[in-house]
Amino acid sequence: VNNHLITIIGCGPGSRDYLTIAAVAAVAQAEVLIGPERLLALFPVAAAEKVASRANMAATLDLIASRLDRQSVTVLVTGDPGCYSLAKLVIKRFGRHQCRVIPGVSSVQLAFARLGLDWQDARIVSAHKEDPESDASLWHADKIAVLAGRERSLQWLHESVVEHGGEGRRIFVCENLTLENERIIEVDLPTLANAGAASRTIVLLVRRDLLE
Ligand SMILES: C[S@@+](CC[C@H](N)C(=O)[O-])C[C@H]1O[C@@H](n2cnc3c(N)ncnc32)[C@H](O)[C@@H]1O
Repeated sequence: VNNHLITIIGCGPGSRDYLTIAAVAAVAQAEVLIGPERLLALFPVAAAEKVASRANMAATLDLIASRLDRQSVTVLVTGDPGCYSLAKLVIKRFGRHQCRVIPGVSSVQLAFARLGLDWQDARIVSAHKEDPESDASLWHADKIAVLAGRERSLQWLHESVVEHGGEGRRIFVCENLTLENERIIEVDLPTLANAGAASRTIVLLVRRDLLE
């Protein structure tokens, strides 16, 4: 039995500018920080031990478990923990009562902010790990945000838009939001599949008249 708490911190899209004060304060209290290298690097002066998480999520969950009998554990995740995050698996495995969640700014929020668009009615879908399951209702939405940080994800998106009809939507590929190499380009459907796709990419599809 262990009573140690897990704190899951949303670290925003990558730049220090988008860390919350609550996130910084929680990191200052942490005993051990577990997260991807690039998030650990956001906290160069943290006193906590830093342990890089594994690409394999199950291995990262085991890593958290291996520390919990000795200490509290602080897990760093990208963006917001409530949006396609390892946080869901952590909470599932260790229990809601044992986890404290500190929200962060999602890359999806950033992408919509860059276009000056509200997003409360957007559909959000992840092609980050694999092609999403087919869902015809998705393609009726006026605004669709695709988490697309995987090489094949733009091909999937291209095929899906061709299949379900994407005329009338503008397509924006938003890479490396908040980072030095941020790039937002508008593409047309024929060039979408070859539009790049950094490991940090959000694609927004927006009904044309909403941007007039
Ligand atoms: C595992 S998901 C995590 C999403 C995260 N919880 C959030 O709220 O942003 C990883 C995906 O987030 C997106 N992402 C994360 N950081 C980004 C950034 N700085 N710019 C663009 N997309 C980003 C990419 O779509 C990537 O495939």
